[in-house]
Amino acid sequence: MEISEIVTRAFEEKFGKKPDHLASAPGRVNLLGEHVDYNDGFVLPAAINLATRIAFSSSGSEKSTLVALDIDYDETTFDLKGVFDKKDSNGRMLSEWSRYPAGMAWALNEKGLEVNGMNAVFSSDVPRGASLSSSASVEMAFGKAWQKLGGWDIPPMQLALIGQRAENAYVGMNCGIMDQFASACGEKDRLLLLDCRSLEYRTLPLPEDVAIVIADTSVRRTLVSSAYNKRRESCEEAVRLLKTKIPSLKSLRDISVEDFEKLSGLLPAETEMRARHVVYEIARTSRSIPLLESGDVEAFGQLMNECHASLRDLYEVSGPELDLMACLAQPLKGCLGARQTGGGFAGCTVNLVRKEYTDEFSQMLSTQYESKTGLHPAVYICEASKGAEILY
Ligand code: GLA
Repeated sequence: MEISEIVTRAFEEKFGKKPDHLASAPGRVNLLGEHVDYNDGFVLPAAINLATRIAFSSSGSEKSTLVALDIDYDETTFDLKGVFDKKDSNGRMLSEWSRYPAGMAWALNEKGLEVNGMNAVFSSDVPRGASLSSSASVEMAFGKAWQKLGGWDIPPMQLALIGQRAENAYVGMNCGIMDQFASACGEKDRLLLLDCRSLEYRTLPLPEDVAIVIADTSVRRTLVSSAYNKRRESCEEAVRLLKTKIPSLKSLRDISVEDFEKLSGLLPAETEMRARHVVYEIARTSRSIPLLESGDVEAFGQLMNECHASLRDLYEVSGPELDLMACLAQPLKGCLGARQTGGGFAGCTVNLVRKEYTDEFSQMLSTQYESKTGLHPAVYICEASKGAEILY
């Protein structure tokens, strides 16, 4: 059964009538520009055909009652007063999953946007903790739902920024804008190129003869957000130190590869490695655009491979299973590039594969990965998809 149907039926069972509306927001995959969004760099993600769906109606009161089908039908009820203290309507601390919708309610309210009580049932086929932005898809889907009930309208990028604010200040993950942006602004069959400083973006076609294949190591890690926040602190430290020589430097976006090579001695060893990844990755993403535009998918794939090596050796956000998955994929027939995608440590790799080899590639990769690890990986042939929307 389709997720839309599952949440609709579950809504009817729980609330005794059909939902008035259905909201949807996709996860994302990132092709290039990893861990650069919070350094004002360029990113190249696409929204994917895996999404969070919410069946919802107004509750007619201040309270919102939400049911998370994927968390064993866990239920929470909160209102705006409690949300400030991260408490539900009974004064208990909000559970982990409910902080994403509650954070959205909090951040929307902070912007002066009306947040009405809703009854909702939601579910997602974006795998959780797999670096495909399941959290951003929940945030954007709830953002859209509250937008529908409140009758206000804001551009998708504004909704993305509100989602990022919720995640930074409410959930406590100091993420950049990429995930919420891709989930809010995704376009069918298009890659998105975002300048994370100006927030200007444009779309690019995916060359016709290639497919994006996502491979899930099926491994998850805990404490990812504290490791992520630490990486971000290292970048900030690098900026502080480099600023002593380049006073106009605002972020690692502002230093060229050449100047970085001259000044990198100013940085302590670990900070230098982190900054080196970022400076080179921003340059790689800039170099990749004309390659994509001219259809040079081989050279583009090579940059993806370089990105993986840099994330593994310099930024140190890979993991043994991600390394294995990328390393098995790269030499396979038809594979142009393979690397971990998203925040890292575990979760998924993204692979650029010639269309005629997609099935053979997926088959070989799963078999080889399974025989080495005993783990069965999910492999998705991904379609670039539309961003968050109200389906009815
Ligand atoms: C996570 C964050 C994003 C981005 C990526 C790494 O997905 O939410 O903002 O920093 O990691 O590129």
